Amino acid sequence: MSSIEQLTVLLNEAAESLPAQGPINDEKRNAFYAAYENVRKAIETPIDAAVRVLFGGYDAVALRVAMDTQIFNQLATAGGQSKSISELAKPSGADPLLLNRFIRILAASGLVKETGEGEYASVPLTGAFSDMSPLSKSAFHISDKAQMRSLSNANSLAKLPQYLQKTNYQNPNDSWDGPFQFGEATNLQYFEWIEQDPKHQEAFNTHMTLQRMERGPNWFDFYPVQERLLDTDKDTSKKFLVDLGGGVGHDLAAFTEKYPDLASRLVLEDLGHVLADVDKQQFKLHPGIERVPTDLFQEQTVKGAKVYYLRTVLHDWPDKQAKQILKKIHEAMTNDSVLILNENALPDEYVGGFQARVDILMMSILSGIDRTCKQFHKLLEESGFEVLGTYRPQTLSPGAGTIFEAVKKH
Ligand SMILES: C[S@@+](CC[C@H](N)C(=O)[O-])C[C@H]1O[C@@H](n2cnc3c(N)ncnc32)[C@H](O)[C@@H]1O
Repeated sequence: MSSIEQLTVLLNEAAESLPAQGPINDEKRNAFYAAYENVRKAIETPIDAAVRVLFGGYDAVALRVAMDTQIFNQLATAGGQSKSISELAKPSGADPLLLNRFIRILAASGLVKETGEGEYASVPLTGAFSDMSPLSKSAFHISDKAQMRSLSNANSLAKLPQYLQKTNYQNPNDSWDGPFQFGEATNLQYFEWIEQDPKHQEAFNTHMTLQRMERGPNWFDFYPVQERLLDTDKDTSKKFLVDLGGGVGHDLAAFTEKYPDLASRLVLEDLGHVLADVDKQQFKLHPGIERVPTDLFQEQTVKGAKVYYLRTVLHDWPDKQAKQILKKIHEAMTNDSVLILNENALPDEYVGGFQARVDILMMSILSGIDRTCKQFHKLLEESGFEVLGTYRPQTLSPGAGTIFEAVKKH
């Protein structure tokens, strides 16, 4: 049995030696995170737990201030050299004293390194938040005012307890009338709201391309596309796959790397202003793929395609709107068509902390919900579908996609 002293020594040694051993695969890293969390839960004091839970928002604020004042850009390009807080403050004209108050939070959480009094240098994570990294777009999107976890800025999240009190603790069930509208004092739905801010819209679009970056294999590598879809694809004059709410086409771009011959039978659908950002991305969408500006709540114009595919679209919507979206797809499907949902379905029990938090994020901005497998089955059955199967990758990383394959109920 290890004592706390022995464990402390072991972990400190590991922190020194592990980075030199090279990349660690997802399975091993996730197993370690789980063990590490178990140790934390076993020894954490009530005060430490309260601080951890209640003070997370301050890190997000510090991250955003450092991004806005070019701290990550400056440190990431300094070649590991230390920079003083006065130097770092120059490009933004910030008061060094003020900036230092934020940067020391980032140093404590390991995003930069403190090398002396008021002096900082980069660590490998620093580059992830510089402008060169697409992850900085995610950080911008998540820390922007609608979503900031800081209690002073996250209007919809900060006012969620008040909203729920007002609605007698019912699940929000309308994306146009929920915590977001209450918190932001707006009539706009969240997607309408970000459309008004092109910088945020672009950040959101790129953020979506990163959503699955570390979440294991692509859906078409663990779902039997050949056997379930291609072998039963009788009418090749029709479209093969429509990616609804496919964003800037990142999923189809990956799909055409494996199935380039299908490109002219693929359709990317999303809101017109989102499709306008397709060619701004770091990847190139196959030119054969048709781009069709679409509103999920209007008639589906591509009829009788073999596959209607939605990835992490339904979790944006409560049942009321999810059913309206499914109805439009149902109407366009023939008996040969297959509906494929690729969703972060939650387990029925022991939901991980990250997934549980994302669910509340969905609630607070979209009245959305991260559904469990059971809840997806129920939603599909109530919308006129029969679920033929569910598929998951062999190794499950947190948030890995689950594929639901469904057809029209006869
Ligand atoms: C959570 S993102 C998912 C994007 C992509 N499928 C993925 O998994 O990365 C939801 C997508 O739905 C789109 N969307 C939202 N409302 C829509 C609507 N009314 N009609 C069409 N697309 C919509 C958004 O623009 C966004 O690209």
